[in-house]
This record gives sequence, C-alpha cells and structure tokens, in this order.
Amino acid sequence: MLSLLPETAAVEGGELSVGGVPSSELAAEFGTPLVVYCEQTVLASARAYREAAPDALPLYSLKAFPNIELLRLLAAEGFGADVSTLGELEFARRAGIPGRRIVVHGNNKSDEELQAAAEISARFVVLDALDEPERAAAAGVRRALIRVTPGIEADTHEKIRTAQHGSKFGLPPADALAAAARAREAGVEVTGVHLHIGSQLVDPRAGLETIDWLRDFAAREWLPEVVDLGGGLGIPYVEGDRPPAIREFVTTLLSRLAAGWPGEPPEVILEPGRSLVGPAGLTLYRVGVVKQASDEVTYVAVDGGMSDNPRPQLYGARYSALLANRADEQAAGAYDVCGKHCESGDVLIEGARLPEPRRGDLLAVPATGAYTLSMGSNYNAVPRPAAVLVAEGRARLIRSRESLDDLLRQEQAGG
Ligand code: LLP
Repeated sequence: MLSLLPETAAVEGGELSVGGVPSSELAAEFGTPLVVYCEQTVLASARAYREAAPDALPLYSLKAFPNIELLRLLAAEGFGADVSTLGELEFARRAGIPGRRIVVHGNNKSDEELQAAAEISARFVVLDALDEPERAAAAGVRRALIRVTPGIEADTHEKIRTAQHGSKFGLPPADALAAAARAREAGVEVTGVHLHIGSQLVDPRAGLETIDWLRDFAAREWLPEVVDLGGGLGIPYVEGDRPPAIREFVTTLLSRLAAGWPGEPPEVILEPGRSLVGPAGLTLYRVGVVKQASDEVTYVAVDGGMSDNPRPQLYGARYSALLANRADEQAAGAYDVCGKHCESGDVLIEGARLPEPRRGDLLAVPATGAYTLSMGSNYNAVPRPAAVLVAEGRARLIRSRESLDDLLRQEQAGG
C-alpha cells in the first residue's frame, strides 16, 4: 500500500503521516474529507518530466486539479499551463503563468474564450473545429495548432479515449488540413499539430502508434514545426497497477518521434495532468457508520463520497484504502467503503481489505490528487472538501473547505 502513497508517506507508531505531518493532526486542524498533497511528490514528478524532455515545453493540464498554489509550484519548475475553459485560463493567469507558456484548448470555445486567449497572447490556441479559424482570427488569435484525430483507439476506459474515429475532439486529417489552410488565409499562423489520444494510459503502445501515424502524416501531408503530444500517462490506483514511470514513458515516445522524422526535429509540447498531481494526493475521510448489510457485505461509511470523487461512478475506477490511525494493524476482512450520498451507487471501494473499522477512524484513500476535487459536485448540498500541501512537517491550506454559506450565497430567495 505504501507504494500507492506519496513519497513522504510513513507509518510511525501505527499512524500514517505525509510530509512529516501525522494524519490525525491534519484531520484535527483542517477537518475531513481532506485532500492532502505531498509537495515532494509533485516536484519529483515535475522534475522527471523535465529530465526526460529537457527541450520540450511542459504544460500542467489544469483540469486534473486547478489550483493556484500547485500551479506556482509547477511554474517554478518550468511548467506552463494547458487550459480548456475561461475558468482554467483565469487560474493560470492568477498564478502568474505568462501567455507564452499557455496553450488554449476546447472543442467548443466561446468567443469570450478566444478573446481571452488573444489578450494573454497565448502561445497557441488549438483549433478544434472547421468554423474556428475565422472566429479565432476575428478574436485576435495569431498563433495556432490544429488538433488532429488520427483514428487510434487508446487502451483505456472508453469515456477517456479521444483520438478514435468519431471522437468529439479534433478533426480527421483532411479536415485538419482544411482548417489549417483556412486559418492561414484568415491571418493565423499555424505551426503544428496537437494529438491527445486519451488518459490513464498504462502502456505506451497507442502513443507509439500515434507517433508512427504522425511521422507518415508529416512525410506525406504536412511537416509540423510544433508537435503537442498532449498528456495521458496513467498512474497506479491499486496494488498491482504498473503503468510506465514518467521517464520511461516520455523517453520511449520522444525517441520514437526522433527516429526517422522527415525534417528538422519539431518543437515538442507535453501536457501531463494526472501523472503530475494524482499520486501526490490522498484523501482522508472520517469513518462513521459501520453496517453489516448482509452475510457478504459490510459497509464502512465515510463523510464524503461521490461529491468529492465521482470516478468510481463515471469510470468504474478502483481505489484502495488504509486506516490512517491504525496503519500497522492486520486486515480483518473486506469492506465496502461507501459515501454519505443518497444513491446506492455511492460506493468508493468494493472489498477494501482493512482492520476492523470503527466510528472515528481515519480512512486514507491514495492516488486521489487528479480528477477528484476538479470533478466534485455539491450533490445533496454537501460542501466540497479542503486541500492542503504538506512538506517538512508543515501543512498549508491551498484550497479552503466550502461552507454552507458558500452554497446558500447563490440562492435568490434568502432564508
Ligand atoms: N491535454 C488534453 C488536451 C486533455 O484533454 C487532457 C485530459 C490532458 C492533456 C491531460 O491528460 P492526463 O495527463 O491527465 O491524462 N476525468 C478523467 C480524465 C479526463 C482527461 C481529459 N483530458 C478521469 O478522471 O480519468
């Protein structure tokens, strides 16, 4: 289980600590549920990308978790930002990321989004529709890439594949070339292509296939000066998951790209999200009701659930858990960890191996740093959790817990 936890995770006196801070202290000071990010793990992942691709422009894909503190931490390591909405763009701007390190995506960008991209002089806007070139030009956009759909089925959950025929993202090759020509006519410089084939990729095969496809495209149709390979590297969620390490994944793809490229080596952009912040985060929950529902199933209910992590419902995602306050005890059985929401499907983990759980225990769920808080909701009028960054024995709040007042502020009828 320790292999799924952030680098600084340790068990001392039976208690899990991260960044030198005991989990009971984190829970007492910041409440639960709480997403805990380990600074050292974020930095190690960022440096692995930099070392494996020193000449590439690395961008943090903000959708994994838009957060200004994390963005600043990554910016200091040389990262820019990949944004796909006005909101994400504003997070990047407030974090002080310069436009030349921002790439703007979106399969349905509004005029406002295109104008905002132009105002910050974004490095590139990634054109994603046939009617976008003229709209982008009118908004003042000057530099673009074209998102191409190569027709490759990445080996991942169908909901997070993006490069197959029929994807809502990108343009098939012929349309992509037509969009590039229209953009140039409209006065937008188009220097390259963007390809993002999917997320939570656990082997490099589809990435390699994509690069082979791109090499042919470059030789036959158009030689891009810039190649944005998107993100996609997967992370381990449960014991036994073995995705490639960052260095291995990036080196494999970049060496394939370099081999036999039909021209000057292209400028490369990478856009990791999950692999930068996912393994660095864990969620601490407080255990409430423990209920034996049948001979087979005992539920352990925690004080959050699908509102802070909807991934099990969306993708059948699997997680694991440990009791943070009794981390050295042997498992007593298999328990279904459920949330507090009014849905039978609000089950975070089926069959988690745990010591006999009791009310008041702290349950830690590893690998929740990406696509959890960013996809959270207020279902059942539940405020979303806080997030902290831990390092060297100290914890810093990087996102405050939502309050009931925050939720009620949007009501018009008062109360
Ligand atoms: N670039 C583009 C254009 C993307 O669409 C994405 C992710 C990324 C980069 C970053 O990919 P990553 O390195 O994080 O795999 N909510 C889903 C994941 C959706 C990913 C969407 N696009 C999940 O929880 O698994």
